[in-house]
Amino acid sequence: MIAPNLVRNVADEGVIGHEKIKDFALQVENAALAVAMREPRPQAGALLEELAALLRDPVSGERVLAHEGGFVLADSGRAVPMTDGIPSLFAPNDASFQGDVTELVKSFYEETPFPNYDGFDSRTSLSNKARRGVFAALLDEQLPEGSLVLEAGCGTGQLSNFLGMSWRRRVIAGDMCLNSLRLAKGFADQHEIRNVAFLQFNLFRPPFQDNSFDLVISNGVLHHTGDCEGGFRSILAKLKPGGHIIIGLYNSQGRLPTLWKRALFRALGPKLYFLDPRLRDWGSQPERVKAWFMDQYRHPHETKHSMDEVLGWFERYGVDFVNGIPHLDGSNFSTNEGLFAKRSAGSKLSRFMTEFNMLASGGADGGLFIMIGRKR
Ligand SMILES: C[S@@+](CC[C@H](N)C(=O)[O-])C[C@H]1O[C@@H](n2cnc3c(N)ncnc32)[C@H](O)[C@@H]1O
Repeated sequence: MIAPNLVRNVADEGVIGHEKIKDFALQVENAALAVAMREPRPQAGALLEELAALLRDPVSGERVLAHEGGFVLADSGRAVPMTDGIPSLFAPNDASFQGDVTELVKSFYEETPFPNYDGFDSRTSLSNKARRGVFAALLDEQLPEGSLVLEAGCGTGQLSNFLGMSWRRRVIAGDMCLNSLRLAKGFADQHEIRNVAFLQFNLFRPPFQDNSFDLVISNGVLHHTGDCEGGFRSILAKLKPGGHIIIGLYNSQGRLPTLWKRALFRALGPKLYFLDPRLRDWGSQPERVKAWFMDQYRHPHETKHSMDEVLGWFERYGVDFVNGIPHLDGSNFSTNEGLFAKRSAGSKLSRFMTEFNMLASGGADGGLFIMIGRKR
């Protein structure tokens, strides 16, 4: 990386004051990065050491340095706690946080990490499952080469492990639940997935320098916090201008079938579990199905949101709408479409009808909708 830096410095100093030189330096740097990313890393987790310059202590804001297989804070020299090879830069919310549910939700997921890895005994089986989900497959195909990705609330890291199998990107994935992270890192270590790193953090106090990532993903997470909009704002700060943010949330209408089933299950018990297609499979993959049951029907805290509400956040915090699943204008989602190609946000009526269709079609995937935006 010395050569591109040298060229850029020369241009920065005005010795050769020309934009073309800077472009050239960027191209050389990207090429060098691509080569470096193809080199196998000695072990899963080494990626975080490479990216230590992005890390910040969530309380003091100190820089974090890689040191003897671990991390230390640059000013105080304090060691970052490590558990089973997972660094913890977790800090709780301030006492002033109204309606904080972090500890409640954290203990729920420590007890029942989601989703479970039952049945995924290889890279191929995880990859096959991710591809069946279409969204993950499109992401894998369409993420620009060299992207630096943050997944906030990665749970057991199935999406991040899938994306981290490719040398074409680097993924940092974090969650507040250590048991989930152990499963995530265990899978990465066992299957030698090198382009992903896991750490413990609180998404309200993300331990990274601002404007660092090309893509920030948080799927099925913010609706389990005490302040969904505040969580969105907090992770958005870590996205570079021009980068994309992808959030998945329970929809106010699409979630209703799950809530009705929840009430029925409580009243009439397991004999009605057949109403949920995933619960019918209970016998063959008990741990995975249990994780789904707990997450959908026994969760201590969830909120519901609308497409209009998220468009309001986009507007307030400088994000342009790009795409949504389902489409906001009511058109069909195609399995080979451009995830990052700008689409219409539709009208108030088309959005209402799209959400109503989520309800009418039985609330697949627990009534989750995905919104993709680009930071200005
Ligand atoms: C339903 S799981 C989703 C996991 C993963 N994104 C997926 O789609 O499979 C929600 C996750 O959000 C995490 N979470 C909730 N609040 C969080 C917070 N404040 N900071 C970090 N993680 C959080 C939970 O620990 C849990 O693992």
